[in-house]
Amino acid sequence: MKTRFKIAACAALSLTICGAVTARNIPKEFGTEINALQQLREGRETFRYATFGDEKFWGDGIGLHLAIAGAANGGVGPGVSPKAALAAGLKVDVNALPRTLQRSLARGKVDLDDPETTLALLKLDAVVGVTGIFEGNKLTSMGIQCAFCHSTVDDSFAPGIGRRLDGWANRDLNVGAIVAMAPRLEPVAAVLGVDVATVRAVLNSWGPGKFDAVLFLDGKAFRPDGKSASVLIPPAFGLAGVNLHTWTGWGGVSHWNALVANLEMHGQGTFFDPRLDDATRFPVAARTGAGHTRAEEDLVTPLLPGLQLYQLALPVPEAPRGSYSRSAAARGEAVFNDKGKCGTCHVPPLYTEPGWNMHTGAEIGIDDFQANRAPDGRYRTTPLRGLWTHAKGGFYHDGRFPTLAAVIDHYDGHLALGLSSGEKADLVEFLKSL
Ligand code: HEC
Ligand code: HEC
Repeated sequence: MKTRFKIAACAALSLTICGAVTARNIPKEFGTEINALQQLREGRETFRYATFGDEKFWGDGIGLHLAIAGAANGGVGPGVSPKAALAAGLKVDVNALPRTLQRSLARGKVDLDDPETTLALLKLDAVVGVTGIFEGNKLTSMGIQCAFCHSTVDDSFAPGIGRRLDGWANRDLNVGAIVAMAPRLEPVAAVLGVDVATVRAVLNSWGPGKFDAVLFLDGKAFRPDGKSASVLIPPAFGLAGVNLHTWTGWGGVSHWNALVANLEMHGQGTFFDPRLDDATRFPVAARTGAGHTRAEEDLVTPLLPGLQLYQLALPVPEAPRGSYSRSAAARGEAVFNDKGKCGTCHVPPLYTEPGWNMHTGAEIGIDDFQANRAPDGRYRTTPLRGLWTHAKGGFYHDGRFPTLAAVIDHYDGHLALGLSSGEKADLVEFLKSL
């Protein structure tokens, strides 16, 4: 009974006390639960705090920390004040702030225009997804984490300052503008075979909520229509049961985690994907040997199991009460599964196909530019749960449809559904409820 209680408490209260539960005092039948909880805890640490050694790139390499600190604090340029950081979409974890600091902040006694305050926040590990590396009070390097793009906060303290929401897409974050501040972009320019001014122009073309992971594989920064080739940051929750991931179905969660940690964040690890040797589709990756990455010390691979489990366990946030009409959503569900034909691809309750969840651009009525930047030349059926958390930035991989109503109008035309305006409105309410 005692052990049962311990496990229940472990699950209900906090994962941290599971560390104290040793394999020895747990009967064998609970081994799986304990293993899962320990891995979840490890995975959460990784998702929130692991840099995988990527400070070698972000700090030591391109010197982004120098631009954050500013000349007055041993860096370069004006530095990044907390106000500027929040404006660029960075988030502050209120739970990392000591009570005294929270009180001073609430009273307006903290200078939010001074980059030195940003350094203090970094020292507290309070900037979501960013790790500052310090010698004394001097910022000497920095790294980023998964949480940089895939977490936000609930704004409970102030806009941009609150409790962490892991797995939510940060659609405020202007990744490109942040990276463009780095003083030493020469290594990036060299990899892409362009000059630094071009790299800055490309980074500044992305805008908030977007990133272009394939740029460093194929060197394509713009679509044939001249618009940015970047895509929206998707959520990292609700992915259990889903086969292929990313907008274009690069692989399973663990494949993509390894790709991102090694090739995008520039962590120190091992990554194998010989599909990247295709010099026609991936000229940059084929040249740099990205599909055969091996660092001296592998700081990524040991973290992959827990990281995957954590993401798969992240629940889909429930749509807030009153954010949609229940009766309309119930009618919309029927349209979704019947006349709208949505459920043929977005199969409930996964809202993607169990199996090989991929379609050509022609099947969904769009161009195949982005699909062709991935090995299978297709788009992955997006799992739709939690849509309400990332309405900012639009829908589809590049945000081409500004609203859910626009998405439905597109399908109505492309699939010749003949939906009435009432049916369309009901369908929107259903999508908002997922
Ligand atoms: C710089 C921003 C950024 C960082 C950092 C980042 N991601 Fe992503 N992530 C993206 C973008 C953008 C995509 C969509 C990529 C695409 O489809 O081309 C994505 C896609 C994903 C997906 C696929 C989601 C789905 O709908 O199937 C997962 C899972 C994921 N990332 C996990 C991670 C993990 C784990 C880390 C840390 C190791 C990480 N990401 C770091 C921006 C980021
Ligand atoms: C032939 C399969 C198919 C059908 C039928 C289909 N979808 Fe999709 N859906 C997809 C694919 C593939 C994507 C990904 C498009 C992209 O990434 O650009 C998608 C994307 C979406 C998105 C965007 C999700 C996001 O996060 O941006 C929404 C919303 C959506 N579909 C709703 C619907 C609705 C509503 C219907 C019925 C009217 C429907 N779909 C019918 C395959 C389908």
